[in-house]
Amino acid sequence: KLKVFTKVKEMQEFCRAAKGAGKTIGLCPTMGALHEGHMTLMRAAKKAADVVVASVFVNPVQFAPGEDYEKYPRAFAADCALLEQEGVAAVFHPAPEEMYPDEFGSYVSVESHVTQVLEGARRPTHFRGVATVLTKLFAITGADRAFFGQKDAQQVAVVRSFVRDLNLPVEIVMVPICREASGLARSSRNAYLSGEERTAAAVLSRSLGRAKEAFAAGERDAKALKAAVTEELKKEPLARIDYVALTTFPALMETKTVTEESLLSLAVFIGATRLIDNVILEP
Ligand code: PAJ
Repeated sequence: KLKVFTKVKEMQEFCRAAKGAGKTIGLCPTMGALHEGHMTLMRAAKKAADVVVASVFVNPVQFAPGEDYEKYPRAFAADCALLEQEGVAAVFHPAPEEMYPDEFGSYVSVESHVTQVLEGARRPTHFRGVATVLTKLFAITGADRAFFGQKDAQQVAVVRSFVRDLNLPVEIVMVPICREASGLARSSRNAYLSGEERTAAAVLSRSLGRAKEAFAAGERDAKALKAAVTEELKKEPLARIDYVALTTFPALMETKTVTEESLLSLAVFIGATRLIDNVILEP
């Protein structure tokens, strides 16, 4: 039976007891409105740890004013049913005041290159909020391993950076992107799309697929690979490109030629909804 904890102390005690019994802990941090993509994290965690714990917390400090914090989908009862089905032992679901009481005043600010580009360039306070909440979740759970989706590849790069910089005793595992039949990467924000927009949104993965094909055929030139993506995106009238980028992974340095593991990533507006997707290219 899934245990639900809303207090830091309760979650900490549960994890401490599990560790005391010699069990390893796998943590899957989420903001809820869980979908199949989140479930792939739970399954990976189940394989790699004795006790799987999840968090469901829409973290206010990673949203900037004007972003979708208030509107972000919340579905905690349904989330619990899914977590229970996957055999997750406990879910941490604190109120914002439990995580950020009035006296709160310490943030983890990742100042290296990985936060300055891509999503970080458009959302300057976002990764500070992510790093802060994750540092708290790592401290609360004492997790041995934590699981993150490639869907947010830059988030993985940022987490790996501060875990390394701060010597946090947690191993970061990246799980592949889970997609719908259309290729659309699963995301809680897909709930914002109308039927017509949802169909149009398949262009993100289709455009990355074009570049992947070119890459498989031997294309290594960044300009050409990015052009394959933008050309396909431009065919979709509902799509407006925010960026298409080719960087190394996980250092996220812009590349002219793909000579090492690289990340081809994009952000595209479909109507008013901003979606991201990526592929990793390995020469
Ligand atoms: P959230 O958007 O809920 O995502 C939780 C985790 O699920 C992230 O690691 C994300 O990359 C992963 N995920 C989402 N969609 C996925 C998909 N289609 N395939 C594979 N993995 C997917 O990311 C966050 O929450 C927050 O920033 C958080 C890390 C919880 C910190 O607040």
